[in-house]
Amino acid sequence: MRIHSLPIQLVNQIAAGEVVERPSSVVKELVENCFDAGAGQITIEIEQGGARLIKIRDDGCGIIKEDLPLALSRHATSKIATLQDLEQVSSMGFRGEALPSISSVARLTLISRTVAAQCAWSVTADGSEQNFDPQPDPHPQGTTVDVRDLFYNTPARRKFLKTEKTEFAHIETLIKRMALSRFDIGFTLAHNQKEVLNLKPAATDLEQEHRIAGICGSAFIENSVKIDFAASGLQLTGWVGLPTFSRSQQDMQFFYVNGRLIRDKLVSHAVKQAYQDVLFHGRHPVFVLYL
Ligand SMILES: Nc1ncnc2c1ncn2[C@@H]1O[C@H](COP(=O)(O)OP(=O)(O)OP(=O)(O)O)[C@@H](O)[C@H]1O
Ligand SMILES: [Mg+2]
Repeated sequence: MRIHSLPIQLVNQIAAGEVVERPSSVVKELVENCFDAGAGQITIEIEQGGARLIKIRDDGCGIIKEDLPLALSRHATSKIATLQDLEQVSSMGFRGEALPSISSVARLTLISRTVAAQCAWSVTADGSEQNFDPQPDPHPQGTTVDVRDLFYNTPARRKFLKTEKTEFAHIETLIKRMALSRFDIGFTLAHNQKEVLNLKPAATDLEQEHRIAGICGSAFIENSVKIDFAASGLQLTGWVGLPTFSRSQQDMQFFYVNGRLIRDKLVSHAVKQAYQDVLFHGRHPVFVLYL
């Protein structure tokens, strides 16, 4: 066979193989975009475990009408411009991949309004990066991304979706983890029109502990100590569970570096060592830590 360039939609579908594993990966990408847009409130509506609908609205900076087609095109981003930017990137995203990838494997509508715009504009995309025709919309300042029928055009991948309940459980866990990294943002999450989470922005210690209690259980907050420790130019803050409050699984260990949840053997080992004389074998500490 001769060599030829692939159609753009197919290129994006191939890229989507990396970015979009399941509904919760779509939610992760879209919520990260809300973080980067400076949102104060994020509203997440899910239907049928995300297979039918994932709709995420924020009140962030929005996108100007002229940039909407770019937002849906591969390798187009507002977050970096040079290699130097990349080396000191502080946003969650920077690849310019998420929206074009998602739009190539679902029916995606992007609606956005900046503070200076007269009205919002809406565009629909299918990953081919063509036929963008912005339509006026009454949306308030901020952005909504509406993603329907995930994997409708890639049946092999749709077949791998688990039950509605399992896919939604992944989304709920993800939102809880993300909510622990941004106390300044309010989150609501609804599944099939039923509200599942409603987390108000949490500024004070008490409000933050309230959010943690809502996510890790009130027993954790009652049995933990708050820490704030600085050394070698690094600052470690958060809450660590008392040895009397341990678990048989490592399911309540949250460690964030610069706002990103990470799982790292070195870190888990370091924490485990700190507890080694006070925890029974086979028990695991509970912690929410920020570096
Ligand atoms: N909720 C949002 N509010 C404002 N702008 C947004 C929002 N979502 C996307 N954008 C704009 O669209 C662009 C493309 O988004 P996309 O998620 O595809 O790429 P990215 O965030 O730049 O990089 P990455 O692929 O790593 O996520 C962003 O750079 C941003 O300018
Ligand atoms: Mg992004």
